[in-house]
Amino acid sequence: MTQAERTKIESISCKKDGITINWCDGCVSHFHFIWLRHQCECAQCGSSLNGVRGLRLDLIPESPNVLEYSFDSDSLYLVWDGDGHVSTYEAKWLRDHCYSAKERAVRKHQPVLWDKRIEIDVPTFIFSEVENSPSRRLEMLQAVCDYGFCKVEGAPGLAQEAARLVELVGTKRITHYGDFELSNKKMSNTPDDIATLTEKDSINNVGDIRQALQPHCDETYRTSTIGITIFQVFQPSVEGGHSTLVDGFEAARRFRTEFPDDFEELVRTPLTGQRFDPKHAEGELPRWYRCTLPMIRVDEDQEVCGIRVNERQIAPIDLPYDQVVPTYRALQKFLKIVYDPSLMISFPLKKGDSLIFNNQRVLHGRTAFKSEDPGRQVLTNSVDLEDFFSNVRILKGRLKPEEPIQTYSQGMVT
Ligand SMILES: [Fe+2]
Ligand SMILES: [Zn+2]
Repeated sequence: MTQAERTKIESISCKKDGITINWCDGCVSHFHFIWLRHQCECAQCGSSLNGVRGLRLDLIPESPNVLEYSFDSDSLYLVWDGDGHVSTYEAKWLRDHCYSAKERAVRKHQPVLWDKRIEIDVPTFIFSEVENSPSRRLEMLQAVCDYGFCKVEGAPGLAQEAARLVELVGTKRITHYGDFELSNKKMSNTPDDIATLTEKDSINNVGDIRQALQPHCDETYRTSTIGITIFQVFQPSVEGGHSTLVDGFEAARRFRTEFPDDFEELVRTPLTGQRFDPKHAEGELPRWYRCTLPMIRVDEDQEVCGIRVNERQIAPIDLPYDQVVPTYRALQKFLKIVYDPSLMISFPLKKGDSLIFNNQRVLHGRTAFKSEDPGRQVLTNSVDLEDFFSNVRILKGRLKPEEPIQTYSQGMVT
């Protein structure tokens, strides 16, 4: 099948409730009249792309019908019964929006699940290449879509230059931490503004301690939790401090296979993640965030689309009496899988190395490290999932306009 055949109309037929299109590649699409009427993008009806939409669903008939229809290989033309409204549809647009089960499945992005075996072949990109080549950048973003993470080598490794990588991923997210979080703030290579903004007089963040950290998702205490996290290493640890990652989707798949009832328990049980920050900046009020959502989220096809696992942030469980023990059982079984060494990859990061990962899929951790001088220093920035996917869509639309827009997992969105 060629791309041209895919988007060329061979014939059409008018049925009682809609139009059937036979495509030159042998596929068939059926569009209901109500759908076609709603999708008219003439100057009068407008478009959902910019939200300038004159068409009102409440003002069109419940069961619209056509008076006339015609087509050529690139377009479908309809004249509507009643008001004689004329609609024209581009064939490629129709094919790209066909809602047959087959086409919806083709458009739906499928994550590539992984376990420890990916350690020998981690998706890795070179900073200068992704910065200079849009197609290489798209490959990097695609790797984050597919695997939930990638490594980037050769970034400047300097606080002053850190925005260069973040901007390739998407718009920086700003939270109560500001627009970044820097471990070990008292380093000499940081600009003054960073040193002042983030310096704390007490440790209130596990990122600032040296013990090993079990794999976790960040900020499970927020309704809108972090989408994409970007770690940039300014100063690696000499001994220890390896980064660890776990594919939460693979953990959920194993959990579902081994303990289907416990899996369902965690999908339907809301748990609260919380975070109290007594003093994160001089002169500001303390913060106390709480968010109640299940740890595993499935989409309308019952496929796992989001994970929010942070054992350290689980608030006292507040559920109906009979659900408490089953919830603990399910949690223990799931965490045992999440922490299973056969799932975890671990690797050192050098100065200038970066990790980009989807915090609503991939859990991150770190092995312990020693006190050193100069000490380990890692900058964390984040980008919301919608800004990341916006970036992917725009870049893909520019570089691969022939491909239909993919449907991406919405993460933990409820
Ligand atoms: Fe973390
Ligand atoms: Zn119209």
